[in-house]
Amino acid sequence: MKAVRIGICGLGTVGSGTFNVLRDNADVIAARAQAPLVVSVVGARRDNPLCDLSGTRVSRDIFEVAKDPDVDILVELIGGTTVAKELIETAILNGKHVVTANKALIAEFGNEIFALAAKHGVTVRYEAAVAGGIPIIKALREGLAGNRIEWLAGIINGTGNFILSEMHDHGREFSEVLAEAQALGYAEADPTFDVEGIDAAHKLVILASLAFGIPLQFESVYTEGISKLTPQDMDYAEELGYRIKHLGVAVQSDAGIELRVHPTLIPKDRLLANVNGVKNAVLVEGSAVGPTLYYGAGAGAAPTASAVVADLVDLARDFSAGQKNRVPALSFVNKALQDLPIVPMS
Ligand code: HSE
Repeated sequence: MKAVRIGICGLGTVGSGTFNVLRDNADVIAARAQAPLVVSVVGARRDNPLCDLSGTRVSRDIFEVAKDPDVDILVELIGGTTVAKELIETAILNGKHVVTANKALIAEFGNEIFALAAKHGVTVRYEAAVAGGIPIIKALREGLAGNRIEWLAGIINGTGNFILSEMHDHGREFSEVLAEAQALGYAEADPTFDVEGIDAAHKLVILASLAFGIPLQFESVYTEGISKLTPQDMDYAEELGYRIKHLGVAVQSDAGIELRVHPTLIPKDRLLANVNGVKNAVLVEGSAVGPTLYYGAGAGAAPTASAVVADLVDLARDFSAGQKNRVPALSFVNKALQDLPIVPMS
């Protein structure tokens, strides 16, 4: 079995988690991938004490990794939309497949990145970009492929859900819980992305593009965060029989497509109302299957690494089967919905 050679760029929470999962589960991963997955090189400005790199080549220049002849797949885990975009483009131009957890980059620049990848016969995968360890991209792309997706709604920011859960259940202050989420490695480098709904909006457009077969349209999402909520809001909601959850919602109607992110009152007896802590959950209504629910850890090193490694295994299997570019980056294009307007929300 020919080894599949990986270059990991970024050694923060998810990068170190990915390195560790690849090492700790190497036997089952190789068996499933039908090839050993070997980290040829790690590109990072500094080491991470959570990760023992001994025996692995390290480069302080991530662009060297993107051009390295011993790399088949570049794993982009540096985050952000400037250097990360250039890095991915360099990798594609050098014939590398790409796996990324970067929701901002996919949501804002995915259309052009996928086009570049298609032109160069390589694949860009991004399971880890949405809902951490939950295989929601795979579910939309493959498990629900026989359905028209009517709507989806989800808790897709772990930090925000952790904050709201702690405010509901323990009356804690917003800023204190946010600081804890940052210390636990759940929050974005700029936590306003979490608390103002930007991160959820990034994830929502990715889900909507896969569910409806439409282009990524981040600028069209109605986005409202949770930063103005107080423990008193939680108390009132509880008194009335509700929990406040921060939802991303995508709905297809005759008028067009609604894409919105905002706090929502959910009756306490509903499943989504009982998704707490850093957990995420996504409800998807398919025309054939009816409602389906996907639940699990929405952030954190090992859960997000789980999704990154799933993409690596999928790609490695394609190599083993002699297929270079099996799944187009956008799973399908729905001609009927392509030009539908995004319904403006106020
Ligand atoms: N900051 C993100 C969250 C990380 O809390 O959900 C996972 O995408």
